[in-house]
Amino acid sequence: MTSSTFQDTVAQFVLSKEQVEKIINGLNDELVEGLTTTDPKNITQQPSFITRLPTGKETGLYLAIDMGGTNLRTAAVHLLGDGQVGVTMEKHEITHELKTGTGEAMFDWIADCTAQLLKSVALDMGNAELQMGVTFSFAIQQTAINRGKVLAMGKGFDLSDVMGKDLKDLLEGGFTRKNLPVTVSAIINDTVGTLVSHAYVSPSTKIGVILATGTNAAYIERASEVSKYNGPACDQMILNTEWDAMGKAEYLPQTKYDKEIDAVSLVPGFQEFEKMVSGLYMGELVRLALVDLIEQNAIFESLGGKVPESLKPRLAFKTLFMSTIESDNNTDHTAVDKVFKTSFGIEGLTSQDRARVFELIHTIGQRSATMTAAACAALLYKANGTSVKLDDANEITTIGIDGSVFEKYPHFSHSMMDALTEIFGKDRASRIRLELARDGGCIGAALVAMVSHSGGAV
Ligand code: GLC
Repeated sequence: MTSSTFQDTVAQFVLSKEQVEKIINGLNDELVEGLTTTDPKNITQQPSFITRLPTGKETGLYLAIDMGGTNLRTAAVHLLGDGQVGVTMEKHEITHELKTGTGEAMFDWIADCTAQLLKSVALDMGNAELQMGVTFSFAIQQTAINRGKVLAMGKGFDLSDVMGKDLKDLLEGGFTRKNLPVTVSAIINDTVGTLVSHAYVSPSTKIGVILATGTNAAYIERASEVSKYNGPACDQMILNTEWDAMGKAEYLPQTKYDKEIDAVSLVPGFQEFEKMVSGLYMGELVRLALVDLIEQNAIFESLGGKVPESLKPRLAFKTLFMSTIESDNNTDHTAVDKVFKTSFGIEGLTSQDRARVFELIHTIGQRSATMTAAACAALLYKANGTSVKLDDANEITTIGIDGSVFEKYPHFSHSMMDALTEIFGKDRASRIRLELARDGGCIGAALVAMVSHSGGAV
């Protein structure tokens, strides 16, 4: 009885070939819809105003900041040419107070962190204005290469007084209040930063993906397809897909746990795809399924159906625990014991409990890898024949992927590649490369700042 309850729960997270096909087609339709939509609520397919990839020859010294869901990185980036860069970077955690406080407090803090970096690198440019590139891991509607309105902020941010305002004004407001001579010369989404910076070192890169707290991707599209774009004329442009915000009930295989995550989130109905895939939510899916299974006595039977207090808080089970457990090659899964004892005070697990926790975690991790691969496939189909040439045996298409889930989650890259091979067949899949892209945020921002500041479109 308990075995079938357990197997039924796990089975909900296993995707069939048909379900994967539905996801690819559904996302593909949404990619097309995003190019032409006039619905202000549809935040997908955002033009970046960047019209070419770097050549690898760019040089110069630029400041960069990369604001993500968890950390703010500040950097001095020295572009040395030949795909080489020298970077001095500092990392600051963004506290819950900052995330839910006022815009002014947030942008004052960013200015303070920038001042600290300038002090550490002893950067003295006399009275000259310092040029800064900004990577912002949230949706913005760009109006120029260095301007954009903040559209929406998930990831536990609640800065309502910032929505709809121009990010350059918000940042420079903070710099002025703190007397820093810094000008924002480029604003990019983190996926755009990943694409640009990975192309600097690996020129076959055509797509940039983030798989971390959130997930999203950028690619290169023909400008003639982007009917909602009304900036300066160009042939092609990098688009920030905001695929996080895609996903309709008709094709997303949401379990009751996915629906629960959405229902109790800060913005229900927003970022349905991301909530099934990214690092902020994977661990929470495990926790919700575990709580349900404990209540039904289908796991940890020694608890007698009572859920321990330690497992009750939202987000208590971190995605990092999943990586730790999946990294353990021991067939008896002793890492499961360690995680539950150390982080939740739960002891006395049986070997069946350990095996079940492992299976549940593995299945949820696999689903994330398969769904990310399906989203990449939708993008590859959309770009095939233009920036991507999957049918040309001499062309390699590299997807640069940054983010803790892709980097640290065991076998994630292999699982994604297996799914892509299933989707495209061996021949076409052999021309797709998944490469880890690091520090794309700061380097990408510096690259775009450099070209923007020197007057050329990137
Ligand atoms: C969220 C943001 C998006 C960002 C992604 C990855 O989905 O909306 O802009 O690119 O996270 O960090």
